[in-house]
Amino acid sequence: MSLRSLFILPLLPPLCILCTLLSKNIGTLTGFGDITEADGAANATKSSVGTQLLLFLVLGILGHVGTDRLIPKIKYYMLKRGICGKDLGKKGTISENDDIPESLGIVPGAIFLICLIFCLVGFATNHPSKLLDLNSALLSICFMLFLGFTDDVLEWPWRYKLFLPTVGSLPLLCCYEGSRSVVVPIPFRTYLMSDGQLTAFGRFLCHFVVVDQNSDGSIVNLGLFYLLYMGALAVFCTNAINIHAGINGLEVGQAYIIGCFVLYHNLVEIQAESLSLDNHLFSAMIMLSFLGVSLALLRHNWYPASVFVGDTYCYFAGMTFSVVGILGHFSKTLLLFFIPQIINFLWSAPQLFKLIPCPKHRLPTFNAQTGLMEPSKINDRTNMTLINLLLQMFGPMNEQHLCIILLAFQTLCCALGLFFRYNLAQLIFD
Ligand code: UD1
Ligand code: MG
Repeated sequence: MSLRSLFILPLLPPLCILCTLLSKNIGTLTGFGDITEADGAANATKSSVGTQLLLFLVLGILGHVGTDRLIPKIKYYMLKRGICGKDLGKKGTISENDDIPESLGIVPGAIFLICLIFCLVGFATNHPSKLLDLNSALLSICFMLFLGFTDDVLEWPWRYKLFLPTVGSLPLLCCYEGSRSVVVPIPFRTYLMSDGQLTAFGRFLCHFVVVDQNSDGSIVNLGLFYLLYMGALAVFCTNAINIHAGINGLEVGQAYIIGCFVLYHNLVEIQAESLSLDNHLFSAMIMLSFLGVSLALLRHNWYPASVFVGDTYCYFAGMTFSVVGILGHFSKTLLLFFIPQIINFLWSAPQLFKLIPCPKHRLPTFNAQTGLMEPSKINDRTNMTLINLLLQMFGPMNEQHLCIILLAFQTLCCALGLFFRYNLAQLIFD
């Protein structure tokens, strides 16, 4: 059995729930607010959750087939235009000087947008009030795809890489009309209010945000800071995927696994007919197309990679996750799926903030004699990435095994995140 056939494994749990949902008629959705009797006639044209999910699934499959067929064609044009790079993990082998087409993330990105436009036709019929959100989501993802491609072609310096996703998230932030409140974890509430009165710290915070005294300090309206938080989430998601990279299959593999867990979370909420069912359906719609195109790209980027995904894909994937996290109102759960990226970011911080030297490439070094990857160094000091850390802990290994171990770690962290979300979060947030 080829290793590529194992890609289906993370998709199995969400597919199982999807099958149950397709056979079960949850009933027509009533849009994003309470429905009145007068809307009864309009509801006649609305489809059940199962029917909508079926449409999104079919579009995801078509997106997968389209991406898989188009990549071999577009990679030829990329090579012709000189948009290519050398595989640094093959140094010292016969394929050392082969040109590998770069930025192939543009193919899944473009096909994803086409899928989403068709999804919107179905979704807008059932949720007309959500059209603004959907269009702003499309614009943000589209903008980020474009900025990622310019980064691949023009190679922006690092300071611009931080700035670009902020600009890309603006359409989303400008149109955001959802809640700006957050639930304060139980242990912290006493710092805001005690005996029905604001504490000194609570009064200080009230200069910037609104502490809801009726809820005894359990809810804080962050106002403008909430928008800043969402902007920061977009910057984090895009860059976090881009810096946890450098070996074949890792960029797209991690995004694919995170996407599978996001979809699983959405479908569990839909199955439970939760209050925010509509938001989760919106996210599931985006994720089904995203997973379809990403899986196709993963097949071509898997070891030995015949294409590189480029910053185009990293930015596109990161923005897609922030869009579903923000508009689906589950940004905290989303961050639980980014645990390896958070570890990698924190570990990388001294190099990212130039406290110690940071070379352009921090990916592990390939030892042509042993055929194994080893931690890369700068000035006799190991580059501070999660990949190098893993190599230091477990010793040198070949590129494919290294990628599998990193993806297994990603899956484990996502599963732990999900366990925390459903079993421990209520102890902290009630
Ligand atoms: C980020 C990382 C950098 C890492 C690079 C690899 C930081 C601060 N930056 O930089 O350490 O080396 O991604 O993606 O952490 N490449 C391979 N094999 C692969 C993927 C990429 O050899 O599987 C090489 C190719 O030469 C390719 C190049 O990396 O052309 C792409 O690098 P790019 O995405 O431009 O690097 P950054 O995102 O700036
Ligand atoms: Mg990159």
